[in-house]
Amino acid sequence: MARLLDPNEQNNEEVELDQTLRPSCLEEYIGQEDMKANLKVFIGAAKKRNETLDHVLLYGPPGLGKTTLAYVIANEMGGHIRLVNGPSIEKPSDLAMILSSLSAGDILFIDEIHRLPRIIEEILYSAMEDFSLTLVVGHDDDARNISIDLPPFTLVGATTKPGDLSSPLRDRFGIVNRLDYYTEDEIRRIVKRTARVYEMSIDDEAANAIAIRSRGTPRIANRIFRRVRDFASYAEQKNIDIALTDDALKKLKIDDLGLDDVDNRYLEAIINRFAGGPVGLETLASTIGEEINNLEEVYEPYLLKLGLINKTPRGRVATEKAYRHFRVGLYHD
Ligand code: ADE
Repeated sequence: MARLLDPNEQNNEEVELDQTLRPSCLEEYIGQEDMKANLKVFIGAAKKRNETLDHVLLYGPPGLGKTTLAYVIANEMGGHIRLVNGPSIEKPSDLAMILSSLSAGDILFIDEIHRLPRIIEEILYSAMEDFSLTLVVGHDDDARNISIDLPPFTLVGATTKPGDLSSPLRDRFGIVNRLDYYTEDEIRRIVKRTARVYEMSIDDEAANAIAIRSRGTPRIANRIFRRVRDFASYAEQKNIDIALTDDALKKLKIDDLGLDDVDNRYLEAIINRFAGGPVGLETLASTIGEEINNLEEVYEPYLLKLGLINKTPRGRVATEKAYRHFRVGLYHD
């Protein structure tokens, strides 16, 4: 069950299908309305001036559509997109290869940009600032700088941890946007759109049932939709209704708040082992056998949003709502 809800994880099925699911323009992109309105202006203005778009930093919890948005930006700007993962750029020559393969107007998307090695960050500064690549060649007494001109490009950086970027790198992004969790209504519209892409029909009530369990996260909503759709296909049912959806969700063991096994163990540990807290994150992580980073970046933002926990200077505490969640036993059958 944890696999089904982990917004960090993208399996092959998803990577492939994401390409057809992705909206191709701002108009089709559902939610993040303020950000979209601003991007429309920045993109429109850059195009009118015949310039590349300023560099864009997108941050926020995983699964909210940072990569999708990079595709949309590339499409709207009429450029190609090149996707790389921060940790995969290890040496200056790796970055040099990538940058020198770009054409004017291209979008370079660096995911997990907070995990770029410091030395790479430093080379990136000048590439971002004046589209020139400065490399040290030779050794010791022979060492010298060479500069290579680059075509004008737009860097779109994505991160779940903006605080981990060095400030010189952060400062070189002219456009900085935080993606927020989607509302239930937005997720319901995304589910309906996904159903249309898959040529299925789904009742509003059924789309809503999926939306309330999706942690405000399109990646999770689409994943749950695909499993519910399996139940529909198996039953040779063309329309996804609430009865089929309720039954599927029960079989998938997805609770009413969209909490998974890790969330439940996290909350139960605070309540039962630490008398409701406060308890330090490290202690909590080792108690339930999960990674600190994973809890901090993936699980806690949503538990905080739901008001099930609070962060205090002395540690994490479970709120009354968390106690109620367990007493009422919302996640049981
Ligand atoms: N699929 C995933 N995220 C989406 C979004 N924000 N709008 C439309 N379709 C999506």
